[in-house]
Amino acid sequence: MLDGKKSLFSGMQATGTLTLGNYLGALKNWVELEDEYECFYCVVDMHSITVRQDPAELRKRARALLTLYIAAGLNAEKNCIYYQSHVSAHAELAWILNCFTYMGELNRMTQFKDKAVKHADNINAGLYSYPVLMAADILLFQSDVVPVGSDQKQHLEITRDIAERFNSVYGDVFTVPEPYIGKQGARVMSLQEPDKKMSKSDENTNASIYLMDDPDMIIRKFKRAVTDSDNEVRYSEDKPGIKNLIDIYGAVTGKNTAEIEKEFASCGYGDFKLAVGESVAGMLKPIQARFAELSKDKDYIDGIIKTNAEKANYYATKTLRKAQKKVGFPERIR
Ligand code: TYM
Repeated sequence: MLDGKKSLFSGMQATGTLTLGNYLGALKNWVELEDEYECFYCVVDMHSITVRQDPAELRKRARALLTLYIAAGLNAEKNCIYYQSHVSAHAELAWILNCFTYMGELNRMTQFKDKAVKHADNINAGLYSYPVLMAADILLFQSDVVPVGSDQKQHLEITRDIAERFNSVYGDVFTVPEPYIGKQGARVMSLQEPDKKMSKSDENTNASIYLMDDPDMIIRKFKRAVTDSDNEVRYSEDKPGIKNLIDIYGAVTGKNTAEIEKEFASCGYGDFKLAVGESVAGMLKPIQARFAELSKDKDYIDGIIKTNAEKANYYATKTLRKAQKKVGFPERIR
């Protein structure tokens, strides 16, 4: 709760190019929830440097991501859309929370284990304590709800544990947040290896639909999507490729599984894949057009960055001061 209104926080890393998974699992829900909450949508550039980045490239991607939030439909006047690195309270609260997080808890994080394998030459302390910074992001804004894809569920659980632990020592300092995981699109799978999550970092570009892919490319990638060979559009665990395409089509059109199976009962995979491709291309087209338009408007985006950093700083500092006081840091002399 912030000033008597329920609040929402979420963020994305400014690494790689956003995929359809990021959109259906998170961004689309953000847009749908924005009227109900006081919302904070962050470009989590501090999390991004847990893996080596090219500085110029990171800056460019961070700005593109912030612009894309708005292009996807988030109201930039009403919501607080900002860069994590512009609000130093994130790092300061993370330090405090580090002292309330056990190594045993961090050792269990599956994202850390996966990334440690992938970046074996750079298993740094930031990568390890990544979930603590994420907890700080969320708790700074007294967030009631955090819309994410299902891969972030474990990070939400540790955030809740840290908040409850802190509150049990010092009283009600933090709102304990709930994850919001949509019914459809919460885990979009790779088009090439449908037992794996669609990921920005996949080296096989045919495995992912990027939000900036043009319609021909999108349709081509869906045509090439790996499926089984029985040619029946049916939702089943043993048909992971088709299951994924049904999930995507459902998330885009709002249709349920039974309706989709019925719609394509007399079609083969070719027609179905084309329909999925066209629905995704149609959904992304207006976002791409708005992104192109907004990207040209430097002053407008600069204005959003400036005013929203101030707003985020105001709320974040309020919570930070409360936590600092509770743990015993001396008061500031004005
Ligand atoms: P990131 O940048 O990996 O992903 C951003 C959001 O996209 C969702 N997502 C998916 N959803 C469905 N299917 C997929 N294949 C898929 N891939 C990604 C993610 O679940 C996420 O919601 N740690 C976070 C960023 C973060 C954050 C936060 C999120 C930092 N602080 C505080 C929420 C609140 C991450 O790496 O997301």
